[in-house]
Amino acid sequence: MNSLSEAHYRFWQNKRTAQINKNSGMKAFIVGHYGKKEKLQLTEIAEPLIKETDILVQVHSAAVNLLDSKIKNAEFKMILPYKTPFILGHDVAGIVIKVGSKVRKFKVGDEVYARPADFRIGTFAEFISMNENDVAIKPKNISMEEAASIPLVGLTAWQALVEKANLKTGQKVFIQAGSGGVGVFAIQLAKHLGATVATTTSASNIDLVKRLGADIVIDYRKEDFESILKDYDVVLNSQDTKTLEKSLKILKTGGKLVSISGPPDPEFAEKIGAPWFVKLIVRLLSYRIRRKAKRLGVYYSFLFMRAEGAQLNQITKLIESGAIKPVMDKVFPFEQTNEAMSYVETGRAKGKVVVKVR
Ligand SMILES: NC(=O)c1ccc[n+]([C@@H]2O[C@H](COP(=O)([O-])OP(=O)(O)OC[C@H]3O[C@@H](n4cnc5c(N)ncnc54)[C@H](OP(=O)(O)O)[C@@H]3O)[C@@H](O)[C@H]2O)c1
Repeated sequence: MNSLSEAHYRFWQNKRTAQINKNSGMKAFIVGHYGKKEKLQLTEIAEPLIKETDILVQVHSAAVNLLDSKIKNAEFKMILPYKTPFILGHDVAGIVIKVGSKVRKFKVGDEVYARPADFRIGTFAEFISMNENDVAIKPKNISMEEAASIPLVGLTAWQALVEKANLKTGQKVFIQAGSGGVGVFAIQLAKHLGATVATTTSASNIDLVKRLGADIVIDYRKEDFESILKDYDVVLNSQDTKTLEKSLKILKTGGKLVSISGPPDPEFAEKIGAPWFVKLIVRLLSYRIRRKAKRLGVYYSFLFMRAEGAQLNQITKLIESGAIKPVMDKVFPFEQTNEAMSYVETGRAKGKVVVKVR
């Protein structure tokens, strides 16, 4: 987090806290206290304010991500120090109902979708204000529920495979957990880019990942991917440390290991403007994997995805052309947002879980 975004966050947080205490306006699910056992509280709060470059969106659907649980459980407090109470939720599809005086990209009535920026989150609510640069026009050929399922996982896959790995036609990529929220999007994106895709899943999801285009499917409960795959150009790692270390061995020299499940690397700490002690912790946490990667002549990098309306516009085109289709597991009513989070926390979701707000 850089100091500007932190100052910005404090400003909004103070306003929000005052609003939450006012008890009027819209319904929202808030984190009242950090903790694994804590549930989100359904609360009445004032509608969000907008600044001149913001739009106000009436939320129709919001997707649930493991990041929501991790933030509530305080696992991300060091890098995302949200001050309670705050509204949770990182994915939205809805309709623009108000625009700031300097907004150029959107008008009232536009159907949009987004992953709001860190410190501007809060999609488990009836309304959310976002900077226009974080938002894109919703693909016309999908529903609000399907649209809400896309931004966070779509941008993650894009930033990992296109931005970081520069995945090209003819290359080989191993995408772990192909049936998960990130996996279902990443497989389709990698196929669109012309890569050969290997993935892991369990027996009941093999047909799903094959339908999405996976060329090599490994049942992780029966087989070890490291004894089957070799000379890969890219690995998208989303699992534990053991899987991360095994992934190094299937890469060819010069190959790239991009991890979205940690450990964070020094480049990431630098990018978010972390204080010196966080930089030091991050350096230590990733020392082992960076050293191993160096010895093998491959590259390790950590990705924490960011909001980016321009990339979401590219994703809109891929969805409208039919190259990428949303994969939905369940849609929960808004009142059951806690149940939707518990379902995602089981780790068994097949594609995305969405909350229908209206
Ligand atoms: N850094 C970032 O920017 C970022 C962004 C998005 C996500 N993430 C992280 O990436 C991870 C994955 O996210 P997600 O949303 O895709 O999760 P998810 O949707 O909850 O993943 C569930 C899927 O994972 C599969 N799975 C579980 N254990 C597996 C294993 N050992 N090997 C292969 N597949 C396995 C399950 O298939 P079976 O039921 O068949 O086992 C299930 O379909 C999470 O830790 C999340 O927090 C990070």
